[in-house]
Amino acid sequence: MSRVVVTGRVPEAAIEKLRAEHEVDAWQGPESIGREELLRRVAGADAVVSLLTERIDAELLDAAGPQLKVVANVAVGYDNIDVPACTERGIVAANTPGVLTDATADIAFGLILMATRRLGEGERLIRSGKAWKWGMFFLLGSSLQGKTLGVVGMGGIGQATAHRAKAFGMEIVYQSRSEIDPGIAAELGARRVELDELLAVSDVVSLHCPYGPATHHLIGAGQLAAMKSSAYLVNTARGPIVDEGALASALREGQIVGAGLDVFENEPSVHPGLLELDNVVLVPHLGSATVETRTAMAMLAADNALAVLSGERPPAPIN
Ligand code: DGY
Repeated sequence: MSRVVVTGRVPEAAIEKLRAEHEVDAWQGPESIGREELLRRVAGADAVVSLLTERIDAELLDAAGPQLKVVANVAVGYDNIDVPACTERGIVAANTPGVLTDATADIAFGLILMATRRLGEGERLIRSGKAWKWGMFFLLGSSLQGKTLGVVGMGGIGQATAHRAKAFGMEIVYQSRSEIDPGIAAELGARRVELDELLAVSDVVSLHCPYGPATHHLIGAGQLAAMKSSAYLVNTARGPIVDEGALASALREGQIVGAGLDVFENEPSVHPGLLELDNVVLVPHLGSATVETRTAMAMLAADNALAVLSGERPPAPIN
């Protein structure tokens, strides 16, 4: 029997699955586990099932000890894990691709609709108690039909967002490290372009690339200036892909019309310049937040940990 440390609360079904085979130490606190407590608990662990709020770095891997075999992140993004440090120590790192694709694409498209149709502004207006009435020019937004969606990062979530956009009558361009399946590209009528062209032609730019040194502030002042002044930016990937200060300035100065953000540079803090603006929709990292999706994520993370502990290749390895 091995020792599995789960760094935060996850759906019970996953804990039960792990407990059927191993000793499980699962953090149950209402708040995130503190760093000191985490370092203390991982000592002697054979597997760590981690949440994206916990930094899994060399210090933590060393605190766990040489018996640690696997770090299974309950997330598709793994910028919280020092993967090279895992690899150097012979530790398998794993994530949860696939199971949150639709939930995240739904939130991306929700943000596109909220931003372009000014739903947040309308909601805030009614709740403020201020007077309002229907008017020909009251809270006019922008239609999506016939407009162009620019998808940055055309993996599963980018493609699922593009499918939704297609159903809304949008044209698709995308920027990606590689070509997508030609059948899917044809079905979407999607054209692969460089980032510069994507920014220049898109009416809505939606970010779906992974975060890392290559994508840090991928969208900064220069890129925002290259977008149409009638365009919108949506980010459901990772906060630091966008320079939040530059985005606040661009929105304030009307360089772009609006934005929708599910992720932030320094979560849970949000740049004060964004909080003052009406033309940005802000939601608290809800991309995968459905009961079904979070359960599937936790079960896949449990399967990743269990496979490695049984000496097998996990279903979703990173390294
Ligand atoms: C992920 O899995 O990376 C998401 O950000 C979680 O919502």
